[in-house]
Amino acid sequence: MGAPGSGKGTQSQRLVQRFGIPQISTGDLLRGAVARGTDYGKRAKAAMDSGQLVVDEIVLGIIRERLAERDAARGFILDGFPRNLAQAQALQKMLTGIGAALDAVVLFEVDYDEIIKRISGRRSCPQCARVFNSPASAPGDAPRCDQCADHPRLAQRPDDEESTVRRRLEVYERETRPLAQFYAAAGLLRTIDADAPVEEVTARLIGALSSVAAPAVSCSAPKT
Ligand code: AP5
Repeated sequence: MGAPGSGKGTQSQRLVQRFGIPQISTGDLLRGAVARGTDYGKRAKAAMDSGQLVVDEIVLGIIRERLAERDAARGFILDGFPRNLAQAQALQKMLTGIGAALDAVVLFEVDYDEIIKRISGRRSCPQCARVFNSPASAPGDAPRCDQCADHPRLAQRPDDEESTVRRRLEVYERETRPLAQFYAAAGLLRTIDADAPVEEVTARLIGALSSVAAPAVSCSAPKT
């Protein structure tokens, strides 16, 4: 967990490579549903565009479907979920139902001025969903993905406009940040200072997880 732009997506992608388990980002899943025009997507769009939380029923439905997919059986990294107490309690029930439990909850702390700076430069690849920080150097000169074969143009998220980002930060403070206490009480919370270069944050994150997870190269499968 962490505020918008604190680096959850960037660091989750790095954990995927290291631990060989999938990243499950409710933001990515919801954007996918919007792009495909599904029923969930149609109902989620207005809340996302205005920087509000999507209703729990939709988010929980999406998470339930995703956790049932085969690649989640060995473990997963939740990115941006849960985001309020009701979601955290529903997650607990879902995990109990599949005989799993959270190993750790990592809270990323970043100064809000830095967050505004990061988000204004964020671009992502419409094909592989990798996140970059590379604003166009000139109008019409959109940066391209260097990871996909046909190098598609990177895109800016519609909810990354500054006033919407400020609303997302307010929603985070009101709805999501209080979950830190919930997970601290459960003994799961690891807080890291994520206001540092990407590599350094990864090192701190791996350090925070060292007691609970083994890398994919190890013989022992990581716990959920
Ligand atoms: P979501 O997509 O989850 O957005 P978010 O939580 O607001 O987080 P972001 O994706 O903006 O930031 P991030 O922390 O992943 O940072 P990133 O790594 O990209 O949710 C979008 C919307 O969907 C919500 O507003 C809501 O409407 C809905 N939604 C989602 N989940 C929901 C839920 N559970 N319940 C209800 N509604 C839900 O990094 C940001 C930028 O900074 C990038 O450009 C990156 O390259 C750069 N960067 C990263 N790390 C560093 C670093 N260390 N130094 C410098 N730059 C860095």
